[in-house]
Amino acid sequence: MDLGITDRVALVAASSRGLGFEAARSLAAEGVRLVICGRDEERLQQAAGKLRQEGTRVLAVACDLTEEAQVEKLVEQARQHFGRIDILVANCGGPPPGQFLQHDSQAWRRAVDLNLMSTVFLCRLVVPQMQERGWGRVVLMTSITVKQPLEGLVLSNSVRAAVVGLGKTLAAELGPSGVLVNCVCPGYFLTDRVSNLAESAAARTGESPQAFIDSWARQGVLGRIGDPAEFGPLVAFLCSERASYLTGAALAIDGGLCRSLL
Ligand SMILES: NC(=O)c1ccc[n+]([C@@H]2O[C@H](COP(=O)([O-])OP(=O)(O)OC[C@H]3O[C@@H](n4cnc5c(N)ncnc54)[C@H](OP(=O)(O)O)[C@@H]3O)[C@@H](O)[C@H]2O)c1
Repeated sequence: MDLGITDRVALVAASSRGLGFEAARSLAAEGVRLVICGRDEERLQQAAGKLRQEGTRVLAVACDLTEEAQVEKLVEQARQHFGRIDILVANCGGPPPGQFLQHDSQAWRRAVDLNLMSTVFLCRLVVPQMQERGWGRVVLMTSITVKQPLEGLVLSNSVRAAVVGLGKTLAAELGPSGVLVNCVCPGYFLTDRVSNLAESAAARTGESPQAFIDSWARQGVLGRIGDPAEFGPLVAFLCSERASYLTGAALAIDGGLCRSLL
């Protein structure tokens, strides 16, 4: 299927590795020009190098997405370089694990900055020009925790729900001007984040990290953890011309982990 987005420009946030990188790679395979970012410059340049090897035009900008001024510079540089942004994938790092009484107020504020405010900054800067041009695709990264809260992840279980509320609201406000907004809700994919979560669970309990990964794999009906490469194609489709009647959705991609009907 031709997704019809060749030469579109996408800003994929937090994309030097993991699910963000895979989203960027799938868009690149459709001929989309890319702006990628992350905090660590060396890791970012390596990611940009990999994408360029595959023939993609890439602008890589080091940026901490929790800092509004840095997000402003990121969007400004993207516009200077490519002239516009047609597609926004609003991703950021995940909050630390832990139960409610283990997190102080600073940890809560940090989680809000990471997952809600970074999304607010990006959308506020990017969507007005999409509205003016009458075409845009926005994908907000959340987690399966918005449909089925996961044990020991109270920050993710709580803050990501706000991102879904934002996404649904934006879909209604922007739909009439041709800008479609959807959330993606991944289950467990084997990225550095999930390896780190397994290591911290192992350190708490004395079990091996692999034992946790195996137990998470068993939670889904497919009985395995996702390969990050299985994530990108969903984002590419949502960002495409072919997804033209799809907005306001929160789509699980979780190997059947979530057991609710909807
Ligand atoms: N993997 C999963 O199974 C899974 C499941 C559900 C939800 N999620 C969520 O999906 C998102 C991506 O997950 P992942 O597994 O791909 O994580 P990851 O492997 O840890 O990668 C995170 C990416 O975000 C960048 N990043 C982190 N904090 C940043 C910040 N403040 N500003 C700019 N860039 C930042 C990282 O680069 P730098 O470190 O260099 O900044 C890296 O490129 C996270 O929010 C995660 O919680 C993941």
